[in-house]
Formats: sequence, C-alpha cells, structure tokens
Amino acid sequence: MSSAIPLKKPVTDPKGYRVVHRTPAIEHDERADVIAGLLANPARVSPKYFYDELGCALYGAICQLPEYYPTRTEIALFREHRAEIAEAVGQGGQFIDLGAGDCCKAEGWLPFVNPKRYLAVDIAGPEVERSLARMAPDFPEIEMVGVVTDFSRKLDLDGLLERGPVTFFYPGSSIGNFTPTEARVFLSGVRRYFDGRPGSGLLIGVDGKKEKARLDAAYDDALGVTAAFNRNALLHLNSKFGFDFVLDGFVHRGFYNEPQGRVEMHLEAVRDQTVRLGNRVRPFAKGERIHTENSYKYQPETFVALLKEAGFASGRTWTSPGGEYSVYFAA
Ligand code: AVJ
Repeated sequence: MSSAIPLKKPVTDPKGYRVVHRTPAIEHDERADVIAGLLANPARVSPKYFYDELGCALYGAICQLPEYYPTRTEIALFREHRAEIAEAVGQGGQFIDLGAGDCCKAEGWLPFVNPKRYLAVDIAGPEVERSLARMAPDFPEIEMVGVVTDFSRKLDLDGLLERGPVTFFYPGSSIGNFTPTEARVFLSGVRRYFDGRPGSGLLIGVDGKKEKARLDAAYDDALGVTAAFNRNALLHLNSKFGFDFVLDGFVHRGFYNEPQGRVEMHLEAVRDQTVRLGNRVRPFAKGERIHTENSYKYQPETFVALLKEAGFASGRTWTSPGGEYSVYFAA
C-alpha cells in the first residue's frame, strides 16, 4: 500500500529503539495465581514460566534439534513463498511480532515488507532488549519498539499502534499454547486492531496433526533438551517466587494426546516429596504430575474455520510438502 501522507519521522532515542513495559490493566497477584495452580489437583503452571534467560536459550536449542521439525519447516515455507506472502502483507505498515523472542524470524521479513514501525512484543524483557539492540543498526529506517507484556492474559496494544495498516506476525505455532476457545478469543482480539486500519493482516504459522511417534519425538528428544527446557521452569519458579523445588525430584514427560489433539508436557515426581510454596506446603506423591504445557495441533480446515469464527474475512494457506505445518495469511 502506498500513502500520499508522508510517513512520520521515527521518534527513537539514540539507541535506535525503545522498550515499553506494559503491565496488565487488571491488576492481579501473579504469585498467588502460580501458587493456586501448583496447589490444584492436578497441579499446573503456565508455559510462560519456561522463558527466563536460560529457558529462552534452551528454546533456541530445541529449534535446532533434529526431532523438532516445526521451526525449520516454517522457515522453509517462508523462504519458498516469500514473494507471495510479502505481496499479501504489503509495504510500509506496522509489523507486530507476537512472542518476538530473539526476533530472528521477523528479521528475515523486514527487508521484504519494509514496515515503518516494528513492534517486538514478548514477555521476556532482557531478550527483547538484546534483540532490538542487535537489529536496530541494520534497520535505521524502521522505528523499533519493544513491548514487554504478558499477552497470554490479554492482548493490550491500545495506544501503541498508529493509524495505517498493521500486520500481526505470530509464527512458531505458539497459538497452540491456547485452548481452541482461548485461541478464538485471542485471535478476535488481534482482529479488533484491524478496524479502521484497512490493509491489515495476520501472518501466522500453525503446526498440524500427525503421527503420534513423530510428535512424541519432537517433544521428548533424544538429547534431552526439551526435558531441560521443561525442568528449567522449576528453577525459574524457585528464583522468581522463592519456592524450593529440588530439580532431581522431577522428570520430563512430553507426548501427543491424540484424542485431545494436543501435545502435553508434564513434570513428574520421581519420589514422594514436599515443596514449600511461600507459606504453603505442597506434597507430591511419586508419579504425580505438574502440567506445564499444551501445544494444540490444527489441520488447515479446522484452523481456517477458527480464523473465520474469530472474524477474519479472507485468508490464504501455504502447507509444507509433507503436510506437517501450515502458514496462514488472514485479512
Ligand atoms: C513455542 C509454544 C510453539 O509448543 O512447540 C517446544 C514450545 N515446548 N518444545 C511448542 C515448546 C516444547 C513451542 N511453542
């Protein structure tokens, strides 16, 4: 899209980027939430606790594992259909990277879609800061904004988006961490930002359903990186909230729950033990599990239907040759 109105000169500090921290509008007690989840039966904890600094590094390692096909399959799809996708996205808009992490996936798109603004949205503050510091010198024409927020609770970008088209970029099948109902609500929230911004779109990558053996291997790799990634959540919880999980008390379980259409990750107690959670004590019996992640898998027909329910009017789909993974552009 071209505009007769000249683009506003980017307002950035001398670093070439800025980072804003956005805490949810509705105050909540994060620590109390986590403790309640761990005291529940079965115990649960949000997958967002994977992503401390070590967890971000371990996720980067997962993406390079031979068994973990989603990342490289998505990269191949992006490369193969680069021109067509860039054409659908358009030029000069605002590119909003949801769960930006190391920003590497978005970085590959910037030269092709030439946004006037790039917003890296992620819960992991230090990683966003580091990524933008790395990228900013290479993209002096792009206004770079880091937004540190927990959008798994609510996507709130109010006041951070300018007029003109927005492209939401949500790669890596992270949408799978939501239940299908939550995903529909979340996607409706994305769609809401298109109102009054014609030419907007959503570019999203979603993993498909497939043989159980392949999914089991992808989430329980031979090297044990996914196990370390899962168990590191306990270290993160200990340091963030002062709990006293003993690392060798829990082992990794990661498997495809075929009837539910999702991969599940759990931490399973290897012996009877108690864990101090502030002023509460949680006993875990041998074999008892803490549910740490769901990763829902969608067939293209199902996901296209979900996009429609979320209010998107049109869309395009690109699926990998083996049918394992799809990329969607929805407007
Ligand atoms: C970042 C949520 C897309 O579900 O595949 C990788 C996280 N968990 N291995 C996924 C993850 C275990 C990943 N997402």
